[in-house]
Amino acid sequence: MKIRIGIAALSLALVGASAPQSHSVYLDNGLALTPPMGWNSWNHFGCNVSESLIRETADSMAANGMRDAGYKYVVIDDCWQVARAADGTIIADSTRFPHGIAALADYVHSKGLKFGIYTDAGTKTCQGRPGTYGHEVQDARTYAAWHVDYVKEDWCNASGLDAPTQYAKFRDALAHSGRKIVFSICEWGHNQPWDWAPKTGNLWRTTEDIEDKWPSMLTNLDISAQHSKIAGPGAWNDPDMLEVGNGGMTDGEYRAHFSMWAMMAAPLLAGNDVRTMSAATKAILLNPEVIAVDQDSLGAQGVIVWEPTPELQVWSKRLHDGSIAVALLNRSTAPAKISANFWRAGLHVGSASVRDLWAHADLGTFKNEYATTVAAHAVVMIRVKPVG
Ligand code: GLA
Repeated sequence: MKIRIGIAALSLALVGASAPQSHSVYLDNGLALTPPMGWNSWNHFGCNVSESLIRETADSMAANGMRDAGYKYVVIDDCWQVARAADGTIIADSTRFPHGIAALADYVHSKGLKFGIYTDAGTKTCQGRPGTYGHEVQDARTYAAWHVDYVKEDWCNASGLDAPTQYAKFRDALAHSGRKIVFSICEWGHNQPWDWAPKTGNLWRTTEDIEDKWPSMLTNLDISAQHSKIAGPGAWNDPDMLEVGNGGMTDGEYRAHFSMWAMMAAPLLAGNDVRTMSAATKAILLNPEVIAVDQDSLGAQGVIVWEPTPELQVWSKRLHDGSIAVALLNRSTAPAKISANFWRAGLHVGSASVRDLWAHADLGTFKNEYATTVAAHAVVMIRVKPVG
């Protein structure tokens, strides 16, 4: 396993009050140079996964614009596996996956998508299925043989185990599997992953599981935001999968959720039923201008630059072309005016052009700041470009 010095981290987090990261060491498997995008079964379907669900989801993603917008990983979460064979090989549920996982991966690939799967570092998964403990090399080889492109490794039933050691074991197993596989670490931020996960995985969960509720979304935002300096190409903080379209928040709240995940350069893993989503949900998940902020090649994670009250925040994210993305986030229950000062947001210019990324409209040139009224539980997201 090659390890490279993450030079990108040197240039990160130059906006706002946070000091630049002096150096960091990143896993260098050449993958996830921008935050992974795709879909994962867990948030909407839980254990109710099957071959037909995955095939239909892949069909929908290829047809509804998601694949072409960048959502490429189709990931089956927990409950696909039932047992181990006498030789230790992991066995999929043959009732739910009658043609096996390899055939399903091939089908997903035939749609121009990539295929991901879930395991657990402990003896059992969170739903009591076989974990990978003691079978790391064997499982990584099996996944490679099945043409898996992405593995999420959870942390249930792992008491007494050391997280950095176990995750490094699986990283090395993947590295020797003969296939390029994105590695997603999921230990919920319990073992300070920001200190070791960048050299171990391509993304690591920073939080407990998200719930489809406004306060839960904000909690995960606030926790992941504390580790902005460590994120960069190939190594991302993961505040958990998206709840957009699952019904527990309003469309305005989902727009804020999606915007803030993009501001944080978070993985964008849709967690809804993409076969039946509403036009409003689709418009959120497919907003190309917000996706472009998430996927910006600089790989900087945005930070809070101004907080006139704890409920009114201005966030800023540096982009590769010298512009910045700015989110005016109103966490309160009443509409409020929020001003984004360009200097505070990291643009040392007098005038800048402003584009609204949800209205898809150029708003004109503004001097020193952009101010607007933001609805309750909502965001205004703009791209600010220096003029002159
Ligand atoms: C944990 C993870 C979730 C999901 C479930 C599956 O709770 O954090 O994302 O994978 O396990 O059981």
